[in-house]
Amino acid sequence: MKRIASGMRPTGKLHLGNYFGALKNWIDLQDKYECFYFIADYHALTTKFEASKEIRNNIYEMALDWFSMGLDYNKSPIYLQSSIIEIPILHLIFSMIVPMPWLERNPTVKEMIRDLDLKENVGYGLLGYPVLQSSDILIVKGEYVPVGKDQLPHLEFARELARRFNYIYGEYFPEPEPIFTETPMVYGTDGKKMSKSLNNQINLSDSKEIMIEKISQMITDPSKIRKNDPGHPDICSVFTYYGYFDKENEENVKKECENGERGCVQCKKEIALKIYNMFEDYREKKIELEKDKDTIWDILKEGNKKAEKFTKETIDGVKKLMGLDYI
Ligand code: TRP
Ligand code: SF4
Repeated sequence: MKRIASGMRPTGKLHLGNYFGALKNWIDLQDKYECFYFIADYHALTTKFEASKEIRNNIYEMALDWFSMGLDYNKSPIYLQSSIIEIPILHLIFSMIVPMPWLERNPTVKEMIRDLDLKENVGYGLLGYPVLQSSDILIVKGEYVPVGKDQLPHLEFARELARRFNYIYGEYFPEPEPIFTETPMVYGTDGKKMSKSLNNQINLSDSKEIMIEKISQMITDPSKIRKNDPGHPDICSVFTYYGYFDKENEENVKKECENGERGCVQCKKEIALKIYNMFEDYREKKIELEKDKDTIWDILKEGNKKAEKFTKETIDGVKKLMGLDYI
């Protein structure tokens, strides 16, 4: 089996966009690849080092959502980046061979600097974001990385870095390739891309009441005021949810909306309930996992142990190739 490596920054409770954009693929890929999934908690520090105390809870909430949703820690190691001591070692070694211009031109980092308005507050760690990400992938010799389009420059970086290392010290690392799986853009409650920073998210763990309330506040086709006004589903973000959560009824809803046979109030309530019901198994598993606060941390500890076997071997190999295996 080919090997996958991928991480997520600990953002706390997951929303529908996280699920469809990443987690669902991760779960599906577990059967076809040897997967190394981890929580990128050091990456959280690159921009939020002052809020370091929030990371613990964000890890807990995210991992709880992962396992409740069906990411299976028996199939592959699921671990915490900061527990794997070999990752920062590889990062340090890589930082010696990375030319500065590679870092300064990285478009994803530039975008983060612009979006977060960091300017002269850009830390050494943030500039090295792609070096750390490459270390995450290469420490387990990941061959494929499921990522969104925004992460492509980081992956290109990892390939160039692997090539450079191999050129200097001898063939050792694979050049990791992206895996694209069809991931729909999930709209948030304000019609923009769902994202925690815009506060427009619907969380997997939202109660029925909250889901109904959030969805009923969404803006639909502005020309549809009364139930029998003909609507335009193609400009309605509520309608996109039918595509993800109720494919069977999508066509019918479209017709009824266009023919003025469907009211928005009812339409929203129906899809809210569909979404809520979709996460029935998730809620059951979550109650189980939440009984004991240690469960999540124990699972991660197990994952750390499993991953360490691979990461130690990689670092030993690196040191040997470089002639650093003195004692
Ligand atoms: N930068 C990724 C993101 O923001 C998270 C990440 C960290 C990652 N290390 C990784 C993704 C290694 C893939 C592989 O989504
Ligand atoms: Fe959107 Fe449904 Fe209203 Fe049509 S009826 S505009 S699809 S919410």
